[in-house]
Amino acid sequence: MNLDRTYWEGRYHTGETGWDLGGPSTPLKEYLDQLVDKDLKILIPGGGRAWEAEYAHRLGFRNVFVIDLTDAPFIDLLTRCPDFPKDHLIVGDFFAHEGQYDRILEQTFFCALDPALRERYVAHMHALLQPGGKLVGVLFNDALNTDRPPFGGFKADYLPLFAKHFSGISMEACHNSIAPRAGRELWLVAEKEGTYTPIDCNLYDRYEAAATLKQPVHLTLTNGQNLHGRIVDLFHRDKAEWLRLDSGAEVRSDQIGTFALDTG
Ligand SMILES: C[S@@+](CC[C@H](N)C(=O)[O-])C[C@H]1O[C@@H](n2cnc3c(N)ncnc32)[C@H](O)[C@@H]1O
Repeated sequence: MNLDRTYWEGRYHTGETGWDLGGPSTPLKEYLDQLVDKDLKILIPGGGRAWEAEYAHRLGFRNVFVIDLTDAPFIDLLTRCPDFPKDHLIVGDFFAHEGQYDRILEQTFFCALDPALRERYVAHMHALLQPGGKLVGVLFNDALNTDRPPFGGFKADYLPLFAKHFSGISMEACHNSIAPRAGRELWLVAEKEGTYTPIDCNLYDRYEAAATLKQPVHLTLTNGQNLHGRIVDLFHRDKAEWLRLDSGAEVRSDQIGTFALDTG
């Protein structure tokens, strides 16, 4: 099956667009709602009729870009939202696109691609992000189809692919999926490593004290993941400070958002 521009254009022209929600999906809408920095440069690849781009634009984000193989869905967007900047609507192949973004939003683009392209998808997403930038969005955690889009897959298939390029990955059951997708989606956050900031000495002393006293700790990582346990090692790797918990989890110190002694 050749999933090229002609294929997708045909789907728009015949109205076979079952993926289209007619509005922004709840997970992406709620993600955009809590973003404070309206200057973030955001890319939505395979954005289709671009409901999320329109929503972000109306919230005041001014650097929202959409790329799609065909302009058929952009005509619809511009009818709904004539002031959306036309030069932010890119007609072309995601894999040939160059740029640097703070956020990339995923929704039914990954599952629209031939699974043979998944490794390239992850590598290219990584290349398109600024240091510290994030790929966020929803992935199906469901078998779906094997011979046509939407192609299925599961967390266990995706994690090794993402781990090849991203160090900070979170893929958890999505709690706010739209009803027909409930229980079948993962909320993905894949963060590109940032410019490293050396650890604050006071914090290092606190980690060291907790390790020496074998006190349980609670860490909230910058990607939202929570970790509990005892610190069993503080070490250097690649010129950065890391700590290891008794669970075996290893965390680079600049990926720790908050640290607390676990009293519970
Ligand atoms: C299933 S639709 C999803 C549209 C949109 N994300 C949504 O949720 O409504 C997949 C979209 O990806 C686009 N697409 C497929 N392959 C692409 C590629 N290599 N580069 C850019 N867009 C692509 C298609 O044209 C189509 O609009």
